[in-house]
Order: sequence, then structure tokens, then C-alpha cells
Amino acid sequence: MKGLILAGGLATRLRPLTWVTNKHLLPIYNKPMIYYPLQSLVNVGIKEILISTSPDHAGQFANLLKGGNQFGVKLYYSVQENPKGGIAHAISLSEQFAKGDKLAVVLGDNIFGYNLKTTVEKFNKKEKGAMIFGIKMPGMESKHYGVIEIDSVGKVISIVEKPEKPKSNIAQTGIYLYDNRVFDFIRKQKPSARGELEVTDLNNFYLKEGNLECSLIDWWIDAGTSHDELLHANNLVAEKVRLGLL
Ligand code: DAU
Repeated sequence: MKGLILAGGLATRLRPLTWVTNKHLLPIYNKPMIYYPLQSLVNVGIKEILISTSPDHAGQFANLLKGGNQFGVKLYYSVQENPKGGIAHAISLSEQFAKGDKLAVVLGDNIFGYNLKTTVEKFNKKEKGAMIFGIKMPGMESKHYGVIEIDSVGKVISIVEKPEKPKSNIAQTGIYLYDNRVFDFIRKQKPSARGELEVTDLNNFYLKEGNLECSLIDWWIDAGTSHDELLHANNLVAEKVRLGLL
């Protein structure tokens, strides 16, 4: 399995911080944000990882992370020229890199306090399908994310991107495991109302053919949505690091 970290986009919600640098290079306590999703992929044993970013900042990522020796992996870099193409568009650009392998995709602003190794190993043994990771949110908070509806035995019934009236309190987090057919599905996608190729539409292809699994996790932060979330992520990570939990 290969790894892909998405670190493109414009991050307009975090201006003026993101006028001069890329969101995923901003500090989260004692490290740049991208270290956390990168470490998540390293922890599951992935050895080759592609970092997809915006043309203006690719050099800054290479300066920081270099070839990946310090993490014990091999790093590659690519550029998504259209920063609002959407998550599925960014994934499509990694087809040559994946070379027929399965793909683990992580959003560069997502922090997981949970080792996903056992789940990823289980997925790796499967012939085909996709896996998403959900988390229970308080109140109606899930509506800010992709919302996953599951039945009593944990089977996925629906996923809807940022619905006004969420059907469940389970948010879709930013890590996704795919078989290599992911690229064929993206070729069938059409841009959403906001003009992006959405990851939720992509996951719905797998759901429709009955090959989408959801694993529930209990600790996750999307650090990139607002200044308040960025501050919250800094405080939470500082506390976890001090307690030796991260
Ligand atoms: O964080 C989890 C959520 O991420 C999911 O619940 C949603 O279903 C999913 O659509 C996504 O929603 P966001 O609105 O948070 O996505 P955002 O546009 O913030 O992009 C997430 C990351 O992906 C961000 O770190 C930048 C990167 N990205 C995004 C786009 C649109 C790219 O690299 N290229 C892109 O074209």
C-alpha cells in the first residue's frame, strides 16, 4: 500500500496566516501540522508516501521533509495546479505513483491520536473495496463534515457532505483506504455545486457496489477549518504530548 498526503488548497479560512505559507506548515504545538498525518502513515507501516501540494509551496515542503530519511520512509512530491479541484481531483493525480497498489489517503490538516495499524492490515488483506473512518461528534457538530449514517451492525447506509440536517452524529474523518479502482471511479465523477470533485461522492461509488466499510475511532482533530480550531488543536496536542499520549 502506498500513502498520499493532501496538502494543497488555498486555506482562505486561515488568512492572514496562510498568505505567506501553506496551512500544513503552520505549527501545531511543537511541530509543523504535516508531521502528524505523516506520522500516522508511518505508524501503519507505509514506506512510500507522496505529498501533494500547491505550486507556490512545494519547495518549502521539500526543505522541511527532504527525502523522508528522518521518518524511515521514501517521500515524493507533486503539485496540484488547481487548488480548488477537490480532494478526489488531488487523489487522481497520484495514479502513476500508486502503480496498481492500494492507496491510503490522509488530509494534511487532520490529526489522529489513534494507531490505525490493525485496521489497515485487515484492509490490506481484502481483494477490493474502500474503508472510511468515522467519529461520533457532540450535538449537531457532524454537519460541518461528511456525515456517515450506519445501521445497528455498523453497515454504512449513507454519506452526505455537510448536510443541513445530519442523519447521524458520525463525521467522516480525513483518512481513506482505497483499492486501485479508485482512479476509475474518479474518472466517472462530476464536480459538485461548489465546483469540486468531492471525496464523499467518490466514497459513494464504493457504497453503491456494497464495498465500503466504516471503522469508528475516538480521537481526531481537523485543525484546518478556522483560527479557533487551530488554537484548539495546539492546546489539545500540547496536553497529549505532555501526558505522553502522542
Ligand atoms: O476533515 C474531514 C472532512 O474533510 C470530511 O468530513 C469531508 O467529508 C471532506 O470533504 C473534507 O472536508 P473539508 O471541507 O474539511 O475539506 P477541505 O477543503 O478543508 O480540504 C481538506 C484538506 O485537503 C486540506 O488539508 C487541503 C487538502 N486539499 C483540499 C482541496 C479542496 C487539497 O490538497 N486539494 C484540494 O483541491
